[in-house]
Amino acid sequence: MTQTHRLFGPFVSGEAGHDRFLTRRAFLQTSALLAGSVAFVGMPSPGAAQVTRNPLKIPPTASPYGFNLTCGPATSDLGGGTISNVLAYNGQFPGPTFIGWRGDTIFGRIINNLSEETITHWHGMVVDHENDGGPHHTVIPGASRNYKFPIIQRAALNWYHPHPHMMTARQVNLGLAGAFIVRDAEEMKLKLPFGPYEVPLIIRDATLRGNNLDYNAPASGFNGRLPMVNGTLNPKLNVDRGYYRFRVLNGANARVFRLALSNGAPFRVIGNDGGFLPAPVSVTQITLGMGERLDLLVDFRTLAAGATVMLRCLDAGWDLLQFVGTGVTAPTVVPPTIMPKIETLVGPSVPTRTFSFDGMSRINGQEFDMNRTDFTVPFGVVERWRFVSGGNGPHPIHVHGASFQVVSRSGGRGALMPWEAGWKDTVLLLDGESVDILIRFDGYRGLYVLHCHLLEHEDHGMMANFVVV
Ligand code: C2O
Ligand code: CU
Ligand code: CU
Repeated sequence: MTQTHRLFGPFVSGEAGHDRFLTRRAFLQTSALLAGSVAFVGMPSPGAAQVTRNPLKIPPTASPYGFNLTCGPATSDLGGGTISNVLAYNGQFPGPTFIGWRGDTIFGRIINNLSEETITHWHGMVVDHENDGGPHHTVIPGASRNYKFPIIQRAALNWYHPHPHMMTARQVNLGLAGAFIVRDAEEMKLKLPFGPYEVPLIIRDATLRGNNLDYNAPASGFNGRLPMVNGTLNPKLNVDRGYYRFRVLNGANARVFRLALSNGAPFRVIGNDGGFLPAPVSVTQITLGMGERLDLLVDFRTLAAGATVMLRCLDAGWDLLQFVGTGVTAPTVVPPTIMPKIETLVGPSVPTRTFSFDGMSRINGQEFDMNRTDFTVPFGVVERWRFVSGGNGPHPIHVHGASFQVVSRSGGRGALMPWEAGWKDTVLLLDGESVDILIRFDGYRGLYVLHCHLLEHEDHGMMANFVVV
């Protein structure tokens, strides 16, 4: 890729094109909305409370080549003039979406304008210990920390969030989280929807006190009263007739989402945490644990002007995001059927190590100790790790320093899910389940952590140190 491509590649040129689309669409939408409101008056849905829908926020994009990321208090419009105090990256909630290219070196710094320690971790990025942004590298108020590392992995949706021990849950819940999209040449060949047709969706829950986000949670986890997508309450997104690519992140502290579309249409899953799946798969429901990501294609080719489809969570019974048809025809996209090839890890058939996630704060009976090394792992060797739930789930298990492949699940759901193929960095462990992964650390040697991504469990100590040697 040339520098020109990096600066003005599909996403960015699509962003520039956004205004053009909006201008043209704004006109069409006005007519669609008028028609829609007439229809609504004629056909109120029985018993349904009328909800005012707010335009979905799309975080601004940012370059990771020379970034300044300030963590500090800010205010944010959660939609319809609900102005909340938040903790934000560069004043944005969610934080800006970084877009970087495989093979390039990212560099920049975080500046801590909070009144407490923080550190920013690049979830899903394979980086060395010094740049990992783990709990050993917290930054005191008023100080900053520099980062510099090459992107050595394939195209995927990763994300960044705070990781200070015992303070992660609150900082994330009050707003500190953002997307980090890695692009590469393989992805470009697939000719996927881009610009306004590629939309990040950071899904989470929230509780308000007055207009403000309010954080209070027991060790079992934060249980928010309302859903929120991209920091927007009751969001809606106007969609043209065509395919959309949704880059979905479960950014909740402690809530698993079971995603479905209200019209029963399938999601075409093309990727997850570690990039593209070996083969696309169509499903009508997806269970997504905290920290996990999805790359989805949704077909709106037949959605008429003013018609609506809802993205729902079947477990909570929540309406997450309303799609409203504009009637405008989108550029033609052919969903790929052949995906980039990936290596299938081959490893031991018996577990190299077993980790039991006990209570709400322990792994193999022990709470996290920053200064204790819990185990060492040889560099470049495929190991089989077994994760076992001791109850009190869900426990989405996340490993720093390498991606892995999920190879089996017994107990509980008793099977691998179609969206768990390929490379992952977080795997959902429900009560009664035992999950095996194959993992190989071939990026860097050094100290990393393994932890539950139910953030209150993590803060209470469900985390372990290990060293790749
Ligand atoms: Cu998303 Cu160790 O974190
Ligand atoms: Cu991580
Ligand atoms: Cu847990």
